[in-house]
Amino acid sequence: MKFSYVNPTQIHFGQGQIEAVTESIPSTSKVLLIYGGGSIKRNGVYDQVTAALSEHQWVEFSGVEPNPTRETMDKAVAIIKAQGIDYILAVGGGSVIDGSKFAAAAAKYDGDSWDIMTGAHQVTEALPLGCVLTLPATGSESNGAAVVTKAATKDKLAFITPVVQPKFAVMDPDVMKTLPERQLANGIVDAWVHICEQYLTSPAGAMVQDGYAEALLKNLRVLASQFDQRDNDQWRANLMWTANQALNGLIGAGVAQDWATHMIGHELTALYGVDHARSLAIVQPHLLRNQMKYKRGKLEQMGRNVFGLTGGDDLAEQTIVEIELFYHSLQVATQLTEHESDKAHAIDAVIGQLENHGLLELGENQSITLSESREILQMAV
Ligand code: NZQ
Ligand code: ZN
Repeated sequence: MKFSYVNPTQIHFGQGQIEAVTESIPSTSKVLLIYGGGSIKRNGVYDQVTAALSEHQWVEFSGVEPNPTRETMDKAVAIIKAQGIDYILAVGGGSVIDGSKFAAAAAKYDGDSWDIMTGAHQVTEALPLGCVLTLPATGSESNGAAVVTKAATKDKLAFITPVVQPKFAVMDPDVMKTLPERQLANGIVDAWVHICEQYLTSPAGAMVQDGYAEALLKNLRVLASQFDQRDNDQWRANLMWTANQALNGLIGAGVAQDWATHMIGHELTALYGVDHARSLAIVQPHLLRNQMKYKRGKLEQMGRNVFGLTGGDDLAEQTIVEIELFYHSLQVATQLTEHESDKAHAIDAVIGQLENHGLLELGENQSITLSESREILQMAV
């Protein structure tokens, strides 16, 4: 095991913490407040944020859509450049935070902003960014990743660099009170798959990473089983903190990582508008079966340590069935048919996009070629 690890995002966790924005952004900064479709105006978060910014100079940009597009974020970049903005405050879920990371990097680049996503431009500088998280799911609030879509061509790509990692993240669980059930369920599933992408690989005897991943998975199982008690401070706080820890770099440090479920899922979202978390639930169980020869050891470990299974015929397959039941308990489907009726066409389209994006050898062993991706999707119909 070998790694370097730092997570420099300062976390302000707990009720009433939005006021920490005031001290977290230098008072001389000119701030662009970026948010989404307006949920923060309806639930009081906007008022709390603007109160915290009362001593700052600030302007706002709204309308970042779920699965943020470069088309929308380019408009934010134009404002940043025209008005001399030098700090971004993202207030929202993963989409707003990711879109803001893209804008922070694009603001320091004079070429075509999409170069950031294709890798044609290597990001070395960005505006400083802070965030107020309103939806626990992605971990974007304290990592350096961003996923952005080019609507014109339905390309949904990711970039990752420490340069865009938020300087601070406010996590006040009270903001979750207005989240629709669908988004809460999505958040649980997304965080769950983030853990799996870093845990369900080859056994490496990494006791800290494995043990912490298992603790987080068990938390999510408990929170899902208590879904009817979700209007509860403790439930909200535990979900918010668990989803954050799932993708802040710690459990993935020094171990193999997969991310193939995400790469295939992103194509489903870009082509058919499937919610991010729901795209993962469609792909992951079938991918685990397809990759059984690599994943059996960790699936068996997960079966014992997360689901309390004791053995029997095929422990790894039993574990996958438990994962499916976990998604179904949250009303999240694991088959493509429930989203897209012309399935043969959908599979061809996804494979075509994976090819266009050069995603030809996915997974921790680069063993998920286009033909494996096709088999996985065929199992998902
Ligand atoms: O736009 P608003 O009005 O804010 O409404 C949002 C949106 O409609 C709403 N919402 C958010 N907070 C709310 C609320 N509604 C009521 N009350 C609140 N407190 O929820 C809807 C979904 O928001 P979105 O930000 O799209 O959801 P999520 O946080 O799940 O983010 C998904 C995006 O993150 C990317 C995904 O690909 C997707 O584009 N990911 C980012 C990652 C990262 N940066 O590390 C990793 C993930 O794997 C993921 O790929
Ligand atoms: Zn995800």
